[in-house]
Amino acid sequence: MRDKWCGEINESHVGLNASIAGWVNSRRDHGGLIFIDLRDRSGIVQVVFNPEIDAKAHELAHKIRNEYVLLIKGEVRKRPSGTENPSIPTGGVEVITKELKILNECKPLPFMIEDETDAGEFLRLKHRYLDMRRPLIQRNIILRHKTTKAVRNYLNLNEFLEIETPVLTKSTPEGARDYLVPSRLNPGHFYALPQSPQLFKQILMISGLERYYQIVKCFRDEDLRADRQPEFTQIDLEMSFVVEEDVMRLIEEMMKCIFKDVLEQELITPFIRLSYKEAIDRFGTDKPDLRFSLELEDVRDIVKNSSFQVFLDVLSKGGIVKGINAKGCAGYSRKEIDDLTQEVKTFGAKGLAWIKIKNGFESPITKFFPAETLKKLADKLEAEDGDLLLFVADTEKVVNDSLARLRNEFGKRLNLIKDSEYKFAWITDFPLLEWNDEEKRYEAMHHPFTSPREEDIEKLLSLDFSNLELFTAHCSLFTALKARAYDIVLNGHEIGGGSIRINRRYIQNKMFEVLGISHREAEEKFGFLLEALDYGAPPHGGIALGLDRLVMILTGENSIRDVIAFPKTQKAVCPLSNAPSIVDEKQIKELNIKIDAKIDE
Ligand code: AMO
Ligand code: AMP
Repeated sequence: MRDKWCGEINESHVGLNASIAGWVNSRRDHGGLIFIDLRDRSGIVQVVFNPEIDAKAHELAHKIRNEYVLLIKGEVRKRPSGTENPSIPTGGVEVITKELKILNECKPLPFMIEDETDAGEFLRLKHRYLDMRRPLIQRNIILRHKTTKAVRNYLNLNEFLEIETPVLTKSTPEGARDYLVPSRLNPGHFYALPQSPQLFKQILMISGLERYYQIVKCFRDEDLRADRQPEFTQIDLEMSFVVEEDVMRLIEEMMKCIFKDVLEQELITPFIRLSYKEAIDRFGTDKPDLRFSLELEDVRDIVKNSSFQVFLDVLSKGGIVKGINAKGCAGYSRKEIDDLTQEVKTFGAKGLAWIKIKNGFESPITKFFPAETLKKLADKLEAEDGDLLLFVADTEKVVNDSLARLRNEFGKRLNLIKDSEYKFAWITDFPLLEWNDEEKRYEAMHHPFTSPREEDIEKLLSLDFSNLELFTAHCSLFTALKARAYDIVLNGHEIGGGSIRINRRYIQNKMFEVLGISHREAEEKFGFLLEALDYGAPPHGGIALGLDRLVMILTGENSIRDVIAFPKTQKAVCPLSNAPSIVDEKQIKELNIKIDAKIDE
């Protein structure tokens, strides 16, 4: 229907005829002349209706409203001097209409199609087709396409095969709740939607396919946040005959290609590497934002020489005390400090101790500290006049979670973060196991198929789990075991994680034993993988990157919902299609299911 995109028309087309199509972005009636900004995916161009050139089109143009769909044939002309619009690429030219066809009309809009919108998210998602007409969202969707294109190019060049894995499958152990699908043909039986293709990609390695990738939907029924969706996309890959370094190098090179193709930026590799312990010690989190320093300091050795009972009690129970220097914030009011205290309380902290540096030390707790101890504290936190020192005393987890939160908060407040900067890091040497206090058992920190370090395998194999007392005695050993796992972090977001896998059956069996998964349960859940391990499974490993999170960071958005065409709300609802919805009783019956809850229609 057309021979040009709106956004591509420029001075070189002046004097030529063009056919363009698109939506009416705006219309201005100047009595004699009518102007329309016509928009398609490529951008906007100004269209002019002049009664002296085409009286019929000019007459028809009176009817036109925003978002009408038009086909226009006309001549490209230079805009009269003084009427150029330098803020858009086509601002030097316009199209003088010779023929207008209204292809479709549009009802009054529920919200304006503009980048800056104050329309609520539910309304925007309900009319997502209008929302996606906004240039900002289109730019995000296009950037996402460029990213997957760069990924495919790179992996195809590196001998990877793109292979699909089933969506109707069995539960995969990524630690979230499953989405279940009842089987009509097998009453009482359910498929689970994959939380990841983990088991299948390992089986592809045992199948001798050597290098697999897939840009794949994963499903996890978990509490949603700005960077979590119930269905999200992974760049998933697996390789045979590799060690950690191979996978990490491959991903670094892939990131280089993505940044070059998508952002036209050169990335410096290798990325920084931090052990899990170092990340937690210095930043309180295993996904530190390395665009700024503001590190946490362990002050146990210093504050033990005080008489501040809050700190001493925590230390006597094996807890820790750490502090952070909020540079230049000594002027904070009571209220501002109270607000910070409330913030850390959401992570379980019982309080937030503070010292202002104002020609000396100002705080209700200074009386518990000898002068020399205060000086040491100030030195440790590199405090200068005008600074505010903040401390939390509690268990390691509470202290680190609280101060990591404050660190990010002050990174923003003190303008330490450059938006255009990209800081990658690999986090390595993860603990193999993590204590789950609710269930009173150890869990795999990554997943149960992650290999322990070579030197830990012997230790693990020598353990006797038939004796529960011994089991408890093993606790300290358990926490020392390390996994061959790695996470990739970008600007404070975990954008991917992977590991070298267990490829020998007896080690996998032992791992299940440690995790308290019985032989029977393991067979039931993962029997197919376990059996395959018996038939010449090669050493293998891989990684999965969260595509949505990566694109969110590349576009500078704050939520992955802005880089997904059809996202769900915080309540896992799709306002556009109204999913999830109730279904016919007949359908339920066919599935041999009874619904036993009160249902809101
Ligand atoms: P993991 O569970 O770490 O590893 O997931 C990999 C990456 O996927 C992203 N991600 C999410 N993104 C959006 N919404 C979610 N709900 C969500 N959950 C995870 C994160 C995360 O780093 N099978 C293993 C990978 C492997 O071992 O190879 C896995 O799925 O960016
Ligand atoms: P209190 O003795 O409870 O009045 O507390 C004195 C100061 O110490 C207050 O600023 C509290 O917020 C702070 N505080 C209390 N408990 C802790 C804790 N566990 N870690 C850090 N500061 C705390």
